[in-house]
Amino acid sequence: MSLLSLQDLSVTYRIASGEVAAVRDVSLDLGAGEALGIAGESGSGKSTLAMALLRLLPSGTRVDGRILLDGEDVAAMKWGRLRAVRWASASIVFQGAQHGLNPVRRIGEQIAEPMIVHGTTKEPDKRVAELLAQVGLPAWRARSYPHELSGGQRQRVMIAMALACEPRLIIADEPTTALDVMVQAQVLTLIKKLIAEHGISLIMISHDLSVLADMCDRLGVMYAGRLVEVGPSHEVFHDARHPYSRALAAAFPTVGDPVSRMAPKGLGGDPPDPMDMPAGCPFHPRCPVALDTCTSIDVELWPAGERRSAACVHVLPETPGAPVSDAPVSDAPGSDAPGSDATVSETGGSEPSKTSVEAT
Ligand SMILES: Nc1ncnc2c1ncn2[C@@H]1O[C@H](COP(=O)(O)OP(=O)(O)OP(=O)(O)O)[C@@H](O)[C@H]1O
Ligand code: SF4
Ligand SMILES: [Mg+2]
Repeated sequence: MSLLSLQDLSVTYRIASGEVAAVRDVSLDLGAGEALGIAGESGSGKSTLAMALLRLLPSGTRVDGRILLDGEDVAAMKWGRLRAVRWASASIVFQGAQHGLNPVRRIGEQIAEPMIVHGTTKEPDKRVAELLAQVGLPAWRARSYPHELSGGQRQRVMIAMALACEPRLIIADEPTTALDVMVQAQVLTLIKKLIAEHGISLIMISHDLSVLADMCDRLGVMYAGRLVEVGPSHEVFHDARHPYSRALAAAFPTVGDPVSRMAPKGLGGDPPDPMDMPAGCPFHPRCPVALDTCTSIDVELWPAGERRSAACVHVLPETPGAPVSDAPVSDAPGSDAPGSDATVSETGGSEPSKTSVEAT
């Protein structure tokens, strides 16, 4: 059984002017000890997805589909159970979370609090010292206040807090965004080491594909609230099947390649407004390889090689509107590909069947 299983997860915010479809039909599984990266540009729904996992969304937000943590339905958890799960089973390190530390309480008290609440240790001071050592801080730092620490040190404290109750899953949402490059590298190395040592599963969110490729076994790319590609991280980074993932990967300069350093490739246009999605494939207004049919058909995730899937007509065995041989994506699966009942939906047509991505 997977540690985490998302089944057709959709999240819709309700605001005065209407509904914002922030996450749409996301299905995936995460195995114990596996590290999954989630990439995508700003507004693609990464943080919304993370918050939905532990029911941290604002009240009134609609969540459809299922979230199973160790087989238990997160939506059905009572408040007390959910509180226990938030620290003891899965914890989140937020984007800029270091600013969330209480400024008038010492670091040690803040790290100890969840352990005391959940009764996971009889010697909180000793455990705090151990956790500080794990994140590379001396024990005396327990007596410091947050303003006495640098940004990188505060982010280390947040990681210590996330580890405090020995969760099986850590969700790290842009954990290093506010840090300089050197400290960023230190914190990423630390997270990588700790999850490997403790066998913790990781969902790491970033817009930076190169960081995710380095940190994670698998990579999921989100566009306009959907997962548009999933696969082994190095393969997705170096040989993406979806045109959007390719554009995202090309936006990062290649180390040692002066041409790409001086002129990294970008992607024109803006992501669609989640309150006004275009018909057909949501990427078609920006897609360099769009076909005429892309304005009216919408492709679900489709097998795109071993342990890979992508939501693009070019990976379908028969590309509607163009011969497969014209497709710019190599290795398009044959009609005997697993999950070949997954298909394309005509706008306004019948509901397509969906593939969910299995953990390895
Ligand atoms: N509380 C909210 N109420 C209404 N809409 C929201 C709310 N939070 C996020 N959104 C909208 O949901 C969409 C997804 O936002 P989200 O924060 O999940 O994106 P993201 O991928 O994490 O972006 P970033 O990389 O900038 O952090 C965006 O269109 C955003 O404007
Ligand atoms: S389905 Fe069409 S528009 Fe969408 S990514 Fe593929 S080629 Fe581009
Ligand atoms: Mg975010």
